[in-house]
Amino acid sequence: MDYNNILVELEEHLAIVTINRPKKLNALNTATIKELHLAFKALQKNNKVRVIILTGAGDKAFVAGADISEFAHFNTKQGGQLAAQGQELLFDYIENLEKPVIAAINGFALGGGLELAMSCHFRIASHNARMGLPEVSLGVIPGYGGTQRLPQLIGKGRAMEMIMTGGMIDVERAIEYGLVNHIASSEELLDFCTDIAKKIAKNSPMAISQAIKAINAGFKHDVHGFEVEINAFGQCFGTDDFKEGTTAFLEKRKASFQGS
Ligand code: COA
Repeated sequence: MDYNNILVELEEHLAIVTINRPKKLNALNTATIKELHLAFKALQKNNKVRVIILTGAGDKAFVAGADISEFAHFNTKQGGQLAAQGQELLFDYIENLEKPVIAAINGFALGGGLELAMSCHFRIASHNARMGLPEVSLGVIPGYGGTQRLPQLIGKGRAMEMIMTGGMIDVERAIEYGLVNHIASSEELLDFCTDIAKKIAKNSPMAISQAIKAINAGFKHDVHGFEVEINAFGQCFGTDDFKEGTTAFLEKRKASFQGS
């Protein structure tokens, strides 16, 4: 598929999705959000793809936020629709994707950019990364899940401070807060993420998707996390991946998973 605002590269079991508006610091306009939705939908269906890395083009920004020029004149109704549509098409969509998505934060991750990184299953950042939710400086609040996911990841008090000050934190602070898992140099960021992606890709894609569902369930109010885990655990037993994984262990060989 042809995209205007993003790039999608496939290599073995890995897909790298790059938001490609470097002159606008990869700011998320509506067109980019729609393209990202289509790309993630296609990657979800592609049986070969097991892990996805999401990053931004250029050496300055992952994503510097929602495109301010697009919503500056919006009214109350349009503002609500912007948040609802974005959450449905992209942010919740990525969080609930059945395949792991790693955010490679290669510079500024601000506003919708940090919210996008927080929708991913975990984050790895380069030394020059700066993260923050500056929305209150624009007279608005984070609307792509930031008020929910930031406290989940770093705790309520720290999230309150970050959102109220609108300030940026550097990678050392982000590591201390648990917002990112690892730091890499700008040059090595994608290789670092790829190494982790390859380790993930060796494991059962079916089990990984069940694990994502069970972990996410613990952060939802309409389901019971422990019950979702019990059900997902049981489901694994009826799969080829489970048969292969346990048989390979008993036969003292490496498992070769097909993902079902
Ligand atoms: N929406 C729309 N355009 C954006 C943008 C955003 N969120 N962030 C950056 N841009 C654009 C700038 O308008 C500029 O475009 P121009 O060259 O056509 O004028 C271009 O990207 C480069 O940004 P610039 O501000 O010149 O770079 P800088 O290095 O001086 O500053 C930032 C970098 C990230 C500090 C600054 O761009 C910024 O504060 N961006 C907005 C961050 C924000 O509030 N995000 C939350 C939005 S809800």
